[in-house]
Amino acid sequence: MTTKIPVILDVDTGIDDALAILYALFSPRLQVLGITTCFGNENVTNTTRNTLAMVEMAQVSVSVYQGAADPLVGQWAPQAEAFHGENGLGNAPIEEPHTGAKNLSASEYLRAAILDRPGEITLVTLARLTNLAIALKNDPSLVQKIRRVVVMGGAAFVGGNVTPVSEANIWGDPDAAWVVFHSGVPITMVGLDVTMQVNISDRQVQNLDPKRPYTKVMRQALDFYLSAYNPGVVSGTRQAPLHDPLAVAVAEDPTLCAISDLSVDIEREGTITRGMTVVDQRGWVDLTPNVAVCRTVDAPRFLSDFCQRLGFPMTSD
Ligand code: BDR
Ligand code: CA
Repeated sequence: MTTKIPVILDVDTGIDDALAILYALFSPRLQVLGITTCFGNENVTNTTRNTLAMVEMAQVSVSVYQGAADPLVGQWAPQAEAFHGENGLGNAPIEEPHTGAKNLSASEYLRAAILDRPGEITLVTLARLTNLAIALKNDPSLVQKIRRVVVMGGAAFVGGNVTPVSEANIWGDPDAAWVVFHSGVPITMVGLDVTMQVNISDRQVQNLDPKRPYTKVMRQALDFYLSAYNPGVVSGTRQAPLHDPLAVAVAEDPTLCAISDLSVDIEREGTITRGMTVVDQRGWVDLTPNVAVCRTVDAPRFLSDFCQRLGFPMTSD
């Protein structure tokens, strides 16, 4: 038997985070050591509650650690309710979880877990990079001890989703993203270039396996998510992107994407470009690449594995 890849998920659950949590917890190739939470799609109290609820629905035992409530600079404000609803799960009624988050902050847990297994752990960040930035600021030695950070975030050669050029997870705390991207830690960027290529459809949502414990909640949540991504489109023909699950898939198997090593910086100041991932493509400038950028994805291969694992039918129409 092959050894599983030890990972920690950092989430702001969120509808696509919820799918990513299930996808990771049911993975035959990943061992989820813990889950850390951050503000983002909702406030951190709600993203933590949603995370605990998803872990309970998955019927898997894994500890959850609550993290940052605000970005490194400034304060969180609701921005994603149009896509994730007022409770973060498309307003689907969710049972209050029976367990709570552990009594250790996300950044403290990250530090302890990484020091415990130096060089082994892959972090899969599906939210703002605030928790990791705090951990790296508190203990810069972690940079050499993290195997890789797979970041769902950024937009290398395509437009943004919050602003014309900025993706939500970078835009929501560009100062934290700057700390991580400048730290020297190995980074794989799973940005909108690839996540917008992997979509779930109405037909798949309607035909989600009725026997799964999460089916009722996820059908309702995904109906909301499909509406948000397809304003004015009638139910039946809608599609919406699986951002966060794709990052989990790349942590499992990077061969899903065509990847280029590139120099990527984070815009922190620009009045209309704040949160942009700026990729240097000038071949004549001697820059050391700091990020493995996913440029294209084998969408059918990912979707087939994702659907099979979570109980969605494989064909979208
Ligand atoms: C990212 O932003 C969040 O709203 C989603 O959960 C995903 O992590 C997509 O830009
Ligand atoms: Ca997310």
